[in-house]
Amino acid sequence: MVASTIKTALQHSVQLLKQSGSPSAILDAELLLLHGYDVHGIAMNKIKLITNCNDIIPENIYHSYIEFVEQRCQGKPVQYITGKQEFMGLELVLSEKVLIPRGDTEIIVEKLLELTDQNTAMTIIDMCTGTGAIAVSLAHFLPLAEVIAVDISEEALECCNRNIQKHGLQNRIKALKSNLFEDLTRSELTNNIDMVVSNPPYIPTEDIAGLSANVKDYEPMLALDGGRDGLDFYRRIIHDAVHCLRSGGILAFEIGYNQGQDIMNIIKESGGYYDLECFKDLAGLDRCVIARKK
Ligand SMILES: C[S@@+](CC[C@H](N)C(=O)[O-])C[C@H]1O[C@@H](n2cnc3c(N)ncnc32)[C@H](O)[C@@H]1O
Repeated sequence: MVASTIKTALQHSVQLLKQSGSPSAILDAELLLLHGYDVHGIAMNKIKLITNCNDIIPENIYHSYIEFVEQRCQGKPVQYITGKQEFMGLELVLSEKVLIPRGDTEIIVEKLLELTDQNTAMTIIDMCTGTGAIAVSLAHFLPLAEVIAVDISEEALECCNRNIQKHGLQNRIKALKSNLFEDLTRSELTNNIDMVVSNPPYIPTEDIAGLSANVKDYEPMLALDGGRDGLDFYRRIIHDAVHCLRSGGILAFEIGYNQGQDIMNIIKESGGYYDLECFKDLAGLDRCVIARKK
């Protein structure tokens, strides 16, 4: 094998990744090379990649790197190769059995942080928690909050528990297996919950076939399929959350870009909430809905 420097390896893989259609070839190439060093126990970072760009990559690291680049060229998301993703500035671990947390989901966390006083004790339910992205970041930024993180998937809960441990939040987050609210006990569902937040599956079933290959071929269907019109989970959560939220408590959803009006209507028709608001993302698309329990 011809020895390769960091610079030539990156240049070569950026070319391969571009040819394979990656929209973020340079970033992918760097993250995968950093992961190559990481799996062989060598501390490396982006700055060192640049300043040491003429260093020869050790053979075992180079082999791993080539394998990672091949996987990415076949369409596998970088996060499923590296097993991690940053969310609200916190590194989260993940597996292929769980949805990759999205930057868009940070919007709802930021909105909720704006609406709450970090010096107030509160109890939050993060319904459909996946990696625990929302639960972990809220607990991290709200030091007096206690969070119940719920998912139906054992694999998601395993990931969520790893993230809870990683960020030292095991005293304030409980990860529970439940089909939405159905399997939670009465003591978990007092009517004193201050906030129910959820980024549930919301893709209409028949739209799933049209999603990009790196989503529909890799991400778990259980995390995507929101039923015929994509709104099944919202209906159930809106109906059930009203029984556990305290008066004035917050119901908050991440939503699909074209679901704002429908979800606002379902909340209004339920009769249990007031102060409904729909917030947009930076692209001007509907991104989250927040309401308060009457
Ligand atoms: C869109 S993902 C969101 C994950 C995470 N909240 C995030 O923002 O990255 C939806 C999650 O809902 C979970 N889920 C699907 N059906 C469920 C159900 N009936 N009860 C609880 N969780 C469910 C999936 O396992 C998946 O982790």
